[in-house]
Amino acid sequence: MQYAFVLGRVFTLSLAELVATLEKTDPACGLSGNPVKILEASEEVLVVETPTPIKAEALQKKLGGSIKILQVIEILKKRPQDSLNFALKHYFKPSTLKKHFLKDYKGKIQFGLSIYLLDTDLAKRPSPTASEKYPQVSIFTEPKRIGMMAKKTLTETGHSIRLVLPEFNSLALASVVVTKNLLLQKGAEICILAGKEIVYTAKTLSVQDFEDYGRRDYQRPVRDEKQGMIPPKVAQIMLNLSGAKAGETLLDPFCGIGTMVQEGLLLGFKMLGSDINKQAIKGSEQNLEWFRNRYKIAPGKYHFETADAKKIGQLLEKQKISAIVTESTLGPIYFSFPKKTEIDDNFKELTSLYKEVFKEFAKILPQNGRIVMCIPAYRRGKDQYDTLPSLDWAEDLGYNFIDLISPNLAKKLKFLKLTTRNTAIYDRKDQIVAREIVIFEKK
Ligand SMILES: C[S@@+](CC[C@H](N)C(=O)[O-])C[C@H]1O[C@@H](n2cnc3c(N)ncnc32)[C@H](O)[C@@H]1O
Repeated sequence: MQYAFVLGRVFTLSLAELVATLEKTDPACGLSGNPVKILEASEEVLVVETPTPIKAEALQKKLGGSIKILQVIEILKKRPQDSLNFALKHYFKPSTLKKHFLKDYKGKIQFGLSIYLLDTDLAKRPSPTASEKYPQVSIFTEPKRIGMMAKKTLTETGHSIRLVLPEFNSLALASVVVTKNLLLQKGAEICILAGKEIVYTAKTLSVQDFEDYGRRDYQRPVRDEKQGMIPPKVAQIMLNLSGAKAGETLLDPFCGIGTMVQEGLLLGFKMLGSDINKQAIKGSEQNLEWFRNRYKIAPGKYHFETADAKKIGQLLEKQKISAIVTESTLGPIYFSFPKKTEIDDNFKELTSLYKEVFKEFAKILPQNGRIVMCIPAYRRGKDQYDTLPSLDWAEDLGYNFIDLISPNLAKKLKFLKLTTRNTAIYDRKDQIVAREIVIFEKK
């Protein structure tokens, strides 16, 4: 079975999450625990072959970094000089459309068309010499051309059709558009994955529930803009990188108002949250009470304590913890780029905190137990960051550093945005302090 995953904006983290998740054993998501083969990957999409059919809707809910899950229908060859609509000229037969894309719906059909690039160079305008020889078209006109082609075929067979196309100068429909237009219920979203010499046709099986993520973030009774909160999607990605299995207990020792705890519960973990700030723990408890009712989480699956992470070893001595997943304090928030001396001081202070807490974590983690943690990275410019100068101290404290993406895979996927120490950074344009995601494993 072949599937494609449309990656989120921070595609390196999205891809790392998929690599860590797809080979897990999770029958509810159709994951058998057997190897999954990567067929294609780009900044936009990952195409894989799985040994068993996946259950897209259940899996979609567990992936913070994937926007859509698609089922691959066909793989077509194309000459580099051919436009996509030329390559697909004979593809949209009524029988193909009905069999693979629209088979379940009888009323007015709503269908959308999106293109994802396997080769991002295709978005560049054709060079004048190339256009002289082959009358190429800009890729941005292709969704309309291909959509109209499919619409014409369906209209001729007597169907009433509404075609939903991406906005001007974009190639794909946002998940919100797919949801709001009920494309998956009343028709289909047809996706074209375009490489230089290959085209995949695919059908959207599920899209990320953007409304639910918004609810989990903004509708909680307590928020804390001052300390900052981790976006639920990023929390989910980090939890998926923990290597822990559903039913095991994870700890967030800098839990703030409880985002990691709520997301961990949704993924089926038992969760412990602690924070030095009593007020934060009160907020966590209020939030989780709301969350538990809304998401039907059985009581007794989580617990909070007010505690200094520097002393957490004593407190949890007898608890069985599989992994620690946390956004530690990131230091001050800045609205303009701080002086180098300030950054150096922050890093020094945080390193001394990390050293102390890692000593404690070693007391409660099992061998191979992981720490997945956000640490600050200061955004200098596009893809330029000042990061913590060294993480070598962790080695001396009994931890191995874990690559976010294995060096072999990173070598093949040159487009990934990895730091020199094989971590990735989650940033937002409007923020100076970004989050570097680092992973350690107890030796
Ligand atoms: C960036 S916030 C975490 C926010 C959290 N991820 C959320 O989404 O709500 C960092 C938290 O670390 C806590 N903190 C700072 N120093 C600590 C320490 N030594 N032990 C435990 N918690 C600490 C702060 O009180 C703050 O709530």
